Amino acid sequence: MYAVELSDDGQIVTLISEAGARTRFHAIWLRDNAWDAETRSAGNGQRLIALRDIPVDLKVENARLEGAALRLHFQPEAKSIEYDLGWLMAHSYDSGAEPAAGWLSPDITPWDSGLMTGIPLVDFNKAQADGEALRDWLVQMRTYGFGKMAGGPVEPEALLKVAALFGYVRETNYGKYFEVRTEVNPTNLAYTGLGLQAHTDNPYRDPVPTVQILYCLENSAEGGENMVVDGFAAALRLKAENPAWFEVLSSHCARFEYAGEKGVCLRARRPMIELSADGELIGVRFNNRSTAAITDVPFDQMETYYAAYRRFGEIIDDPAMEVTFKLTPGECFLVDNTRVLHARKGYSGAGSRWLQGCYADKDGLLSTLASLETQTLEAAE
Ligand code: FE2
Repeated sequence: MYAVELSDDGQIVTLISEAGARTRFHAIWLRDNAWDAETRSAGNGQRLIALRDIPVDLKVENARLEGAALRLHFQPEAKSIEYDLGWLMAHSYDSGAEPAAGWLSPDITPWDSGLMTGIPLVDFNKAQADGEALRDWLVQMRTYGFGKMAGGPVEPEALLKVAALFGYVRETNYGKYFEVRTEVNPTNLAYTGLGLQAHTDNPYRDPVPTVQILYCLENSAEGGENMVVDGFAAALRLKAENPAWFEVLSSHCARFEYAGEKGVCLRARRPMIELSADGELIGVRFNNRSTAAITDVPFDQMETYYAAYRRFGEIIDDPAMEVTFKLTPGECFLVDNTRVLHARKGYSGAGSRWLQGCYADKDGLLSTLASLETQTLEAAE
């Protein structure tokens, strides 16, 4: 049970727990978050009023508890509104300390090569037929920004069926999907397909494609493993090693550009380590091939910037950070392209390697997941 206190000016309502913990709410915040039928649509939950509809001289005239509800009477509207105490406490903002730069959403778990023994995996047919299996796998996609799917059809465009499980393909100048195909010349067994440094795709777009799917149709060449690295774990390792280097990469924009085909000139200006306004780690862009001249770092910080950039790359290249796997036909992997870097190891020998890739969006993935989670909660009630 709680007790309630109202400030003399009617601007602050405080809930006091039995243990004495005090949680404050502002009158304007409470009024804006009212759930009565005049404030919120009962059908879709959308707010029906704008802030301008709330009087600027608003105050709470009276506050009292009624069981599990808080009833407030607002003036000058003469409006009485009931709040669910559970909802209020779940949405309280009176926690005190501001988090340090580089904090992570509680939904996210950083990882390193230790994830090799627990790669998130689901069977394609199961994910299609069983909402719970799809939900459990999407939870891991949200947690780790990476997941594998096995047992899919070995046919071109199968990756579009994977995207349809949770969202929509993002079409780009590379098309709805693109081919990653190399015939290794069997008469030249010494030939080695070049490995690629781990990178995020298309950092020259704004926004970047937020999910990438790479789907295997043939993979008989020697080598050619895929590997992934958690960019958030790499950024946090950089911060632990040298906070100034984390700061220089997160507080200055790099520039990225792609103009490799006629009629295309894509450019973006974003930091390699991106933080939200309140310091949440929200993105990593890292791609040696498409980094343009960096011109937004002050002269006297450029040396520090390059030292940080070099070390960030070394951390990304460290085998202790990477999860490696080889795809067989009908398997694919997905990455959160705002977080997880991917790479291809070198390959050689006879055989062929044929993957198809496409982009999709994380908002669709998270929406599908949240909706599946809500269904689970409702079923449990
Ligand atoms: Fe790539």
